[in-house]
Parts: sequence; C-alpha cells; structure tokens
Amino acid sequence: MKKKIVLTIAFAMFGFTNLFGVDGYEVYKAKCSACHIESISKADVVKNFAKMKAPPMVEVANQVKTNIVIADDDDDVHRHVVKLFIKDYIEHPKLEKSMCNPMALEKFGVMPSLAGKLSAEEIDAVAEWIYERYEGVKFQ
Ligand code: HEC
Repeated sequence: MKKKIVLTIAFAMFGFTNLFGVDGYEVYKAKCSACHIESISKADVVKNFAKMKAPPMVEVANQVKTNIVIADDDDDVHRHVVKLFIKDYIEHPKLEKSMCNPMALEKFGVMPSLAGKLSAEEIDAVAEWIYERYEGVKFQ
C-alpha cells in the first residue's frame, strides 16, 4: 500500500512523465495514435469500424488489464506485469500472444513490430501512460 501512495504522489507531481523524463502521451501520439484511437465508445466503434486500423487504446488497455489477474491482488505487481506485456508486445507482437477477439484479429491482422522505432525509455513511458490513462475508464 505504501508503494501505491508514493506512486500516486509521483504521478501528481510529474503527470505522465516517467522516471526517465519521457512523456508517455507524446509517445502514444507519435507512435501509436495512427492506428489506435485514444478513446471511443463501443457504439462509435460499430459506426467507424470500416475505417479503423486497430482496436482503440481504451479497449486494448481494458482487455490487457482485466485479463491479467494477480493472485494476491497486489496493485504494484499488476501494474508491473501489465506493463511487461505491453512493452513486449510493442517489439514482439504475435498472434499467439494477442488478447484481441478473433473477429478483430481477422479484420486488423497482427500488429506490425515497432522494434527499433522506440527507445527503451519511450517504450516504458508509453506502457506506463496506457496503465494510468485508463485507470477507472471502461470501454463501453
Ligand atoms: C500500424 C498500426 C499499429 C501501430 C502503429 C500500433 N499498433 Fe498496437 N496493434 C495494432 C493492431 C492491428 C492490433 C490488434 C491485433 C493484435 O493484437 O496484434 C494491435 C494490438 C496491440 C496490443 C495488444 C492488445 C491485446 O489485447 O492483445 C497492444 C498492447 C498494442 N497494440 C500496443 C501498441 C502501442 C503501445 C503502440 C505504440 C507504441 C502501438 N500498439 C502501435 C496496430 C498498431
């Protein structure tokens, strides 16, 4: 619990800038937003599905965060493991790892690897941003 409080204070002070001083939202805008819409309702996804290139980030965040369950319910471990999944997926996306539903995968195909296009610090910052940005934000 103590760690959680420290993290919360750190976020209050530095926003989404991670420990390396990289702004995760800027990374999202530069490297992910061309394919992943930041926020959209399910109803609007249905209307815009033909034009979409990937599942919206609000859906990706919810999918990954709900599917990854930590047995002892520790928030910090959950954050860590969710971030690890996202960080790995950025460089090594794979059909077998994807949590997307089969229909979405059929439409969009597997994400192309972004290996070499982001620094380790940018990858960390964007994964952190995804975790924080959608805290308490449901895809509905
Ligand atoms: C060229 C388009 C494109 C770009 C750019 C892109 N993605 Fe994706 N991404 C996809 C597609 C398509 C999928 C859905 C298929 C899949 O799971 O591989 C996806 C899936 C994902 C998933 C897995 C979701 C799941 O539920 O399994 C994560 C995590 C993800 N993207 C993160 C990112 C991040 C972070 C960035 C930016 C650093 C990014 N993506 C940039 C196309 C893109």
